[in-house]
Amino acid sequence: MLNVVILAAGMGKRMQSSQPKVLQTIGGQPMLTRVINTARSLSPDQLIVVVGHGEQAIRQAYDGQVDIHFVSQWPQLGTGHAVAQAVDLLKSSRENNATMVLYGDVPLVQTDTLQALLAGSDNGLALLTEEVENPHGYGRIVRDAQNRVLTIVEEKDATAAQKQIREINTGMMVAPTDKLKSWLKKLSNNNAQGEYYLTDIVEFAAKDKVTINTVAPKASFETQGVNSRVQQAQLERLWQRELAARQLQGGVAIADPDRFDQRGELMCGQDVFIDVGCVFEGMVVLGDGVRIGAHCVLKDVTVGAGTEIHPFSHLQQADIGKGAQIGPYARIRPGTRLEDEVHIGNFVEIKNSHIQSQSKANHLAYVGDADVGSRVNIGAGTITCNYDGANKHRTVIEDDAFIGSDTQLVAPVRVGKGATLGAGTTLTQDAPANKLTVSRSPQKTIENWQRPVKPSRKKP
Ligand code: UD1
Ligand code: CA
Repeated sequence: MLNVVILAAGMGKRMQSSQPKVLQTIGGQPMLTRVINTARSLSPDQLIVVVGHGEQAIRQAYDGQVDIHFVSQWPQLGTGHAVAQAVDLLKSSRENNATMVLYGDVPLVQTDTLQALLAGSDNGLALLTEEVENPHGYGRIVRDAQNRVLTIVEEKDATAAQKQIREINTGMMVAPTDKLKSWLKKLSNNNAQGEYYLTDIVEFAAKDKVTINTVAPKASFETQGVNSRVQQAQLERLWQRELAARQLQGGVAIADPDRFDQRGELMCGQDVFIDVGCVFEGMVVLGDGVRIGAHCVLKDVTVGAGTEIHPFSHLQQADIGKGAQIGPYARIRPGTRLEDEVHIGNFVEIKNSHIQSQSKANHLAYVGDADVGSRVNIGAGTITCNYDGANKHRTVIEDDAFIGSDTQLVAPVRVGKGATLGAGTTLTQDAPANKLTVSRSPQKTIENWQRPVKPSRKKP
């Protein structure tokens, strides 16, 4: 039986936010969600989150996730007191009887490390500890001459000699459940902070001759906590460097790993190039040879092989085919499907439309709620008037149509196969196939017209 207890009752005052700290994000995902998902990867029998400050917002954020048990801690009297709130929910059986403690504000601990910690517990106590340059503020791991762990001493209770110890307690640990329950009952708050320290169970374990093992994290970002916006930004960058490194290892060319932001899943084929300042959100899939220009934002987008997205383009919930050219400055909105070799140029907005292969809209256009065939040319300034103030209507443009510049297509309307619309047309009825349709008042010239002259200034 494995229980996981995630501590998340603390205040997070230094974040200066109206939102609970553990709902603040790293890599686009709330910190607590990351810890919960990593805990889930261990298939625990019980998953408990201890909440206090901001508990309503936290409980609401995970509403309907029935595998999570929330327990309240009021007031917050320390980490030992926090775990004690969960004891009634801790399951135990004779074998594999373990309770793991994690922190909701230490978001990037990885499954591998927790598995190593679990393996290290071996029915005893396992502590995730780390040697650091500057141990200030952390609990120190005190060992005897045989290098056995004796106790953890908090910064505020440490002697000058203990403060020299550079091995610190990260806070994450695995304890044998039944023993943990008995140790929690013995905790006192007779210390510098007047708190019930979870770390005091280490001394009890040593006295009870329970084996105490220590395990180190693979990467230092795994154990970093977030208490302020500064720490959040620092950890975000460490995580983004890690994600960039993983992409580079997978063969993706990233112009600058320090200017790369992945806030979801990013799956890349071979020879993908990503220029600086791009943001990837949700689920993004890039095919072989895709090139993403500088400062693009892609959210829930699939891009086919060989397609180029030029700088400053924004794409959301769209499916782009192979060999397409998008941008610069293109806006591709939800519900868009662009087939192979479509060209979408600067200041073109496409929404909820299907555009078939080799069609082009190269400059300044709005195409919304439209079905566009193949090899269609949409001229500059073309607008689908899809909205009548109450309802959205579709525009259909069949294969090989040519839409002259500055055309308004007042939907619902259909342009037939091979039809040509003259520049400036306001199309209110269907345009027949293979013919020129134009709506334009005849051009006239006023012969004796005189340009007005400015009144001459009177001299004083
Ligand atoms: C704790 C450890 C310390 C370790 C450090 C690592 C103890 C006594 N000390 O210290 O050895 O080096 O973490 O960061 O355990 N929390 C609650 N309820 C409480 C108190 C805390 O849920 O009553 C939660 C906090 O929200 C936080 C976590 O527990 O997520 C740790 O609390 P924090 O106050 O940051 O612990 P430290 O004093 O830093
Ligand atoms: Ca802390």
